[in-house]
Amino acid sequence: MSNPTLLVLYGSQTGTAQDTAQRIGRQAQRRRMKVQVLPLDSYNVASLISESLVVFVCATTGQGDPPDNMKNFWRFLFRKSLPAGSLSRLDCAVLGLGDSSYPKFNFVAKKLHKRLEQLGASTLLPAGLADDQHDLGSDAVIDPWLTSFWEKVYALYPSLSDVTPLKEDEPLPPTYTFHFLNDVNEKMEDRLQSPPAPSQPRPFPCRIVTNRRVTDVSHFQEVRLIEFDITGSNIEFAAGDVVMMYPQNSAEDVQQFCQFLRLDPEAKFTLRATDNTAVPSRLPQPCSVHHLVKEYLDIAAVPRRSFFELLSTFSTNELEREKLQEFSSAAGQDDLHSYCNQPRRTALEVLADFPHTTAELKVDYLLDLFPEIQPRSFSIASSLQAHPNRLQILVAVVRYKTKLYNPRRGLCSTWLASLDPEQEEVFVPLWVKKGSMKFPKDLDTPVIMVGPGTGVAPFRSALQERRAEGKHGNVLFFGCRSESKDFYFRSEWEEMMKSGHLMLFTAFSRDQEEKIYVQHRVKENAKLLWDLITNKNACFYIAGSAKQMPNSVCDALKEVFQQEGGVSSEDAEQMLDIMEKTGQFQSETWS
Ligand code: 2AM
Repeated sequence: MSNPTLLVLYGSQTGTAQDTAQRIGRQAQRRRMKVQVLPLDSYNVASLISESLVVFVCATTGQGDPPDNMKNFWRFLFRKSLPAGSLSRLDCAVLGLGDSSYPKFNFVAKKLHKRLEQLGASTLLPAGLADDQHDLGSDAVIDPWLTSFWEKVYALYPSLSDVTPLKEDEPLPPTYTFHFLNDVNEKMEDRLQSPPAPSQPRPFPCRIVTNRRVTDVSHFQEVRLIEFDITGSNIEFAAGDVVMMYPQNSAEDVQQFCQFLRLDPEAKFTLRATDNTAVPSRLPQPCSVHHLVKEYLDIAAVPRRSFFELLSTFSTNELEREKLQEFSSAAGQDDLHSYCNQPRRTALEVLADFPHTTAELKVDYLLDLFPEIQPRSFSIASSLQAHPNRLQILVAVVRYKTKLYNPRRGLCSTWLASLDPEQEEVFVPLWVKKGSMKFPKDLDTPVIMVGPGTGVAPFRSALQERRAEGKHGNVLFFGCRSESKDFYFRSEWEEMMKSGHLMLFTAFSRDQEEKIYVQHRVKENAKLLWDLITNKNACFYIAGSAKQMPNSVCDALKEVFQQEGGVSSEDAEQMLDIMEKTGQFQSETWS
């Protein structure tokens, strides 16, 4: 059998699956195989019937959903009309990336594996189920899975063993080359813009109208309510929907990065792909170095192992090279974890720690070294009925200490917090995605919403919408640390209570000795909740941090069922399962 082309198809939401897919691509290149790495939705699925060897790398998001860039593929693959043996020529393998702290762990990979077999494909090995919660990160599963995958491939194509693989420390060619423009006055219009990919969203630049802190200045956490003017955008949304945006690196980080790499931020270049990869449609052609670094390269993220792998191949400084090689090896993963992941060290900080290597970096490799900044999503916190032509979000500014001297900052929230419409007009390109939470359309179905902290955002939108539509039966459980410091929207709730549109239960966790949380309030109101759920068919919602809270609220709800319905714990569990299947129970959690 002649050596096949390996096709690596990925579905990635945050970039981890993409990085893993690219890593597999590089492993194939080192084995001198022909390889193509593509997001699933950029691949014509109908061609799968003529492929011989495919690896699928798929993340599972939120509530067991496929990532956005594989949604079309997913719909196609599960068409009932696909004949059972249609993929009988295909040898394939599925690698899943998931997080066991979410309920449907690696659901997409498991389901895909089953479906491929159903369609007649031969799976080379069981699906790999990587877990973000693993102490050593997902590589603890990925590495042995890949070893086994390559063994199977070599067994299938023995002639692969005849070629000598490229050595680990030899750099592969870059994916793109940079062509700097000598004439800085060369006009943008003179150059071809790459056409946007078909599945690309079309963001609309929306002006920030207000950006104000809603927690007390003495409170440890800065939470901001940001309002955008969406006039002319055609953006529509309903309660539960989310808004997406690309964050940008800070001016200081951009400047430092350019200094480290001795790059002129004003220099303009065009990109050319070295193989048939498309040039990223998000980058203008020509593009300035400043634009590339500020808006595209994720230099403030904690770098992945592949970053160290690549960096080590450039280094000619013995000490630095050794250290980088160690961080890229399987044996060095514990060390890499404590150097990078635990203290949340950024790629930029790593460059500062390896100055000789950094000085040797070739610009052509920038897009291989640094992943693209991923879009961030926020639950929309307002309703068009209450705020026409406006869209509001509630943003907790992420800032925390690790053993590193400088505090860690969330890229998007820090960037948003820095945008001040009173200083200058600021436009942020936005687009909206349907959320997973749906609210009842009919007038009579009550809603019970549990949203501590910024988890209250989608419920504020729902409350504004339901109030405007004259829907009664709105129950909200809100939790925060202190009545005087982070009880945001208090006056809005009070107004809604006065007009009979809201029943509110609050849990101020730190206003007394004992912690009081929303789940305690749920239990205290067992009778009311039981009546609403069983007699009035009320829908129950949870939104907020994915740590302990959602599970604790579910446990509290099951206790309500046991106490008020006199059912066993197994039956209570089953009740909740049924509610979830029918959409009577919904949750949206984030980390
Ligand atoms: P804490 O910070 O005092 O522990 C919003 O963040 C609110 O959610 C805060 O009052 C926070 O309390 C609370 N919270 C923290 N952990 C929680 C949990 N496991 N269940 C419910 N609420 C929690």
